[in-house]
Amino acid sequence: MSTPQTTPDAQATPDAGALSREAIARVDVSGQLEDVLALPEHLRDALWRVESAIIMQGWDTSAGLVVAGMGGSAIGGALARAALGDHASRPIFVTRAYGLPPWTTPDTMVLCASYSGDTEETLACYESAGALGAQRTVVTTGGRLAEMARADGVPVIPLPGGFQPRAAVAYMTVAALEVAALCGAGPRLTSEIDVAASHTEQLVAEWGPDAPEDSLAKTIARGLYGTIPVVAGAGLSTPIAYRWKTQINENSKLPCFTHELPELDHNELVGWEGAREVGRFAAVFLDDSDAHPRVKERMALTERLIAPSAAASFHLETRGETTIERVISLVLLGDLVSIYLAVLRGVDPGPVPAIDELKAALAAS
Ligand code: PA5
Repeated sequence: MSTPQTTPDAQATPDAGALSREAIARVDVSGQLEDVLALPEHLRDALWRVESAIIMQGWDTSAGLVVAGMGGSAIGGALARAALGDHASRPIFVTRAYGLPPWTTPDTMVLCASYSGDTEETLACYESAGALGAQRTVVTTGGRLAEMARADGVPVIPLPGGFQPRAAVAYMTVAALEVAALCGAGPRLTSEIDVAASHTEQLVAEWGPDAPEDSLAKTIARGLYGTIPVVAGAGLSTPIAYRWKTQINENSKLPCFTHELPELDHNELVGWEGAREVGRFAAVFLDDSDAHPRVKERMALTERLIAPSAAASFHLETRGETTIERVISLVLLGDLVSIYLAVLRGVDPGPVPAIDELKAALAAS
């Protein structure tokens, strides 16, 4: 994992010590940090939950897998797709919408993922999948989705309650990986997931709240403080960059944007020229040990070219051997950074009143 390439601009950054466990607890009153630190446990518990919930016969779906979900419930499908990489043997597609892709057939597996079980877009996909005669599976804590699935005899992978939906990322990722394997869209990664849980434990110790104030996650949070972060991924790290963005949005309550290489070298690169005129933007590059060599070269060059315009810049690399270890490593880092950033800003990372208000207004209309 590289260290920051650029020293953040001088800006009133919070005091050292502001990210001790005690200081975090004073701001993180809803205990989001604990849910992030429990990621290794969630990976193991998720395996157990999928195995005990699912009957494995007759699930071969030659048209592949569609994961239908929104926000914190959809990201697991995208991360699973990234972890499978070249080993995916059939199409795996994530839909974040009211409908399924037009090529969905009775030979498609549709995994409807909703933590609450009451997300209207996901409920619409569940119904469309039923109308099309597609195979369905549900992963949820309950709600209308669980009710409908149970009434229809559709398998339900039950999730533990009490989290913010985005804190169930390990559960959603494992559910998508396991369902992909069961329907023939990818290899079974059960033992890799188990090994990844142990690998993640080491990273929790390295980047968690008890690590020194100059440890990586805390350093990044301090560097991003007072900036608008722009997170870039490539290949495997593209959905991780999106996870960073959404975690910074929801936990840190900040704008954050994402793009991917090589595409960003054909547009966004130029936009950085005017960055300092309109605000303090920070760049985060999420690299992977197994990225295409030309992409790696592009990342380094891009970082160098935008350096004069960036308030801070970080070039980070996945950690681990297997793809699942590598994906989870940067998810963990981003989740921790988003919580530390929330704490530096003095905002509770848990509640998302804007989302609640919007859902309530829609429900009433
Ligand atoms: O993080 C969040 O709270 C949101 O992104 C939710 O995940 C999203 O609104 C969908 O809700 P649910 O996960 O309950 O289906």
